[in-house]
Amino acid sequence: MGLNCSYFNREKARRKALYSEITSKEGRLWYSRAAFRKKVPKTRVKRSKKTCRNFMEKDLKKYIFQTGHGKGLSKMELEATSGAEALVDEVEDGFVLEQAALPDPIAHLDRLGGVVRILEVIQSGPATMPLNFEEWVTKAVETEVKNTEGKVRYGVSMHPKSEKVLTKILIGSKKRLKESLGNTRFVNKNFQNLSSVQAWHEHLLDDGAIELHLFQSQKNGKADEKGKWYLGKTVAIQNFESYSHRDYNRPARSAKNGMFPPKLAQVLINIAIGAISPSTDVTIWDPFCGSGTVLQEAWLMGCRSQGSDLAPNLIDDAKANLEWLKYEYQLRDTPQVEVKDATELTAYDIPKDPRFLVSETTLGPALLHALPADELKEIQVELETLYEGFFQNLKKIVKEPLTVVFTAPYHRLGNERLFLPHLPKILGKYTEVVPLSDHQRPSLFFERKDQLVSREIWKVIVG
Ligand SMILES: C[S@@+](CC[C@H](N)C(=O)[O-])C[C@H]1O[C@@H](n2cnc3c(N)ncnc32)[C@H](O)[C@@H]1O
Repeated sequence: MGLNCSYFNREKARRKALYSEITSKEGRLWYSRAAFRKKVPKTRVKRSKKTCRNFMEKDLKKYIFQTGHGKGLSKMELEATSGAEALVDEVEDGFVLEQAALPDPIAHLDRLGGVVRILEVIQSGPATMPLNFEEWVTKAVETEVKNTEGKVRYGVSMHPKSEKVLTKILIGSKKRLKESLGNTRFVNKNFQNLSSVQAWHEHLLDDGAIELHLFQSQKNGKADEKGKWYLGKTVAIQNFESYSHRDYNRPARSAKNGMFPPKLAQVLINIAIGAISPSTDVTIWDPFCGSGTVLQEAWLMGCRSQGSDLAPNLIDDAKANLEWLKYEYQLRDTPQVEVKDATELTAYDIPKDPRFLVSETTLGPALLHALPADELKEIQVELETLYEGFFQNLKKIVKEPLTVVFTAPYHRLGNERLFLPHLPKILGKYTEVVPLSDHQRPSLFFERKDQLVSREIWKVIVG
């Protein structure tokens, strides 16, 4: 609203200034109303609701957020951070979002664990029409080249890809560009799409290359012939080096406790905090903190974090990892970590502002080979006892509503997924479940092929 008002005030001032300029230059105002309007066009001065909306819509931009592993999870992360209404279309490996212009797309991408590229949409057209992609690409390169020094390099990718069409676009645009810009070079190798990892490692954006992607709308996993084609210009690529550094190079990393990818930790944090900007006013609490992946990612995002764990050796690991992170990323205010049983916490153990609990809770025993159904059942009963104890206690000690986003394990038996059968009932008893999907179990799954133990993601409110 503030934005609208200041806009209207500016518009009023502009018209007043023009009015006095005309009257002082040309003597007394003798224009008819219509003639005056012609001189000082009355743009959006009427303060109607429709006008406000038009103005706001004018300021919106379309972006394509290309997702990584686990599109459903990334969708939830995008809906949480940008609002569900921002998602206006789906494309292969991603979503089209209409939202306010991103002031710093790289910083925005750094915050999102489930997105590998952000592209600004610069052209679009209905897939039902014959569209001239060669012309789209040529125009886009010509426009972008204004900011480029040296020989122009550009890349084009297509989703879904047609090698024949992509080859034609690359050869055709190079020919056309020769007339307007002289020699240019496309960076695609053997007329293949450019992956985000390739683009990152080749420092394409830092070196001034122009990276363009064509995406077709998708419906139910298939190209939507009635949808659109979009041409996007890459404005940010995921920093693969930083993720791999903080995942593989930290001092205490144990394969035995399961690998919890930092990207997944970010997705969980985002699903919990949603549109709230990460800041030191936001505390992320992990009472199953293990070696501290959630704590580390929350801290890197700019939040406070605090954790505890039953295992003293893992608390030592978390301390070592957090000290390392502090030095590597020049952070301040090291998170507090302590040895504590999550089922026996008291009100004093909760952080001062316990708004968000985010955790990859226990995965149960690490399975080196597939177990028979009865042994899996025993493990599941133990896990459910832990969840019952944890949530029952949490409900007792939490006074203000606490958003909890956590993972619980499930098992594979052949091709079957064996979820913890009583977990929904336990959650129903002590919490209010916020559905993350329209599945019968309103959770999301995060799994990799051939994994014996996978993660189910839940969002609940306690208190
Ligand atoms: C998969 S790890 C947690 C990973 C961690 N959330 C992270 O971000 O890296 C599971 C942890 O749960 C801990 N744990 C199991 N039972 C617990 C309990 N009753 N209270 C506290 N921690 C517990 C284990 O010691 C283990 O460190």
